[in-house]
Amino acid sequence: MGLEFTNLIELEEMARAKVPRSAFDYIAGGSDDEVSLRRNREAYSHWALRPRVLVDVSRRDTSTTVLGQRVSMPVLVAPTAFHGLVHPEGELATARGTAEAGTIMVASTLATRSLEEIAAVGSAPRWFQLYIVKDRAFTETLVRRAEKAGYRALCVTVDAALVGRRERDVRNAFSIPVDLAVRNLEEAGAGKLPPAQRGRSALADYWERVLDASNTWKSIEWLRSMSSLPVVLKGIMTAEDAEIAVEHGAEGIVVSNHGGRQLDGTLGTLDVLPDVVAGVKGRAELYVDGGVRRGTDVLKALALGAKAVLVGRPVLYGLALGGADGVRAVLERLRTEFDLALGLVGKPTVSSVDRSIIHRISETC
Ligand code: FNR
Repeated sequence: MGLEFTNLIELEEMARAKVPRSAFDYIAGGSDDEVSLRRNREAYSHWALRPRVLVDVSRRDTSTTVLGQRVSMPVLVAPTAFHGLVHPEGELATARGTAEAGTIMVASTLATRSLEEIAAVGSAPRWFQLYIVKDRAFTETLVRRAEKAGYRALCVTVDAALVGRRERDVRNAFSIPVDLAVRNLEEAGAGKLPPAQRGRSALADYWERVLDASNTWKSIEWLRSMSSLPVVLKGIMTAEDAEIAVEHGAEGIVVSNHGGRQLDGTLGTLDVLPDVVAGVKGRAELYVDGGVRRGTDVLKALALGAKAVLVGRPVLYGLALGGADGVRAVLERLRTEFDLALGLVGKPTVSSVDRSIIHRISETC
């Protein structure tokens, strides 16, 4: 019997009942007052759909392309750390489930399996999420390894110069079990998080040691000069930065506030998207993540100009509850909902979705 659930929203409560408290809180939580986290979800209610009728929707197609690669739906798996926390196979199961659903997994630098092990799961296209770490020579090693393993793009996370204060993790003295490691960084001597310590998040302490708060646009220039893989910048929240990203050769931009885990008090990402679209003017592919839980959410993001969305937490809940099959089931549910949304809005293909099917409910939210 596969994982039984009705929608992605209820997965959170199902996972809460199964996953140990400190791991669940690490996944579900955000920073400070979790305002950014809540706004991501709320933003989807600021926009309403305008259905067209008497359109032949008897044949529909949810597939699209991202950076030239065909995917079964405009939904990718967001990079998230430490899949080993919720399932013994960790990222390998996520990779399998995502490939079965016909889409792209973005593998995190902070995975509990190495990027090579993840790449070896079948032949599905994948992207590698890169943190430009303090040890620049080692960052270059990571890029070379990703190239060699066949990753199709580098998704560089740019909203993590410092780590947001996730108070749930502080309260729970979050760390990861001793048998788990950040495999990608083992050779740099950064494979292990510090042990749990009262009143501290081991991840926050680790992050300060490993990640580089001095990165600037020059770091992106450096990366572009060093690798020919397409660069996608993840964590952009303004039209200004999106324009600079395009000038620096980014082929993709993920409008993201890191799932509300970094700076608290931002707008929800969907509400930022129209501004970024206006700034980018079609010069890069735009993606958005944060709070995508429904097929109609995917439709709204596309109507506002996103090429695709990324989904984080629900995939981890699917992994926790059902391994690779759970991941596949979560993605399939979203695809089925998106397929229905396309039909009911009267736009049977992804390319027929445009701005005319959405309007903003009011300027004040
Ligand atoms: C993340 N996110 C993240 N992003 C990233 O670039 N590298 C990473 O290692 C992680 N790790 C991570 C762990 C966990 C547990 C979560 C929940 C999130 C952020 C992630 O890529 C994405 O931006 C959000 O998860 C999207 O929001 P939703 O779909 O979770 O609401």
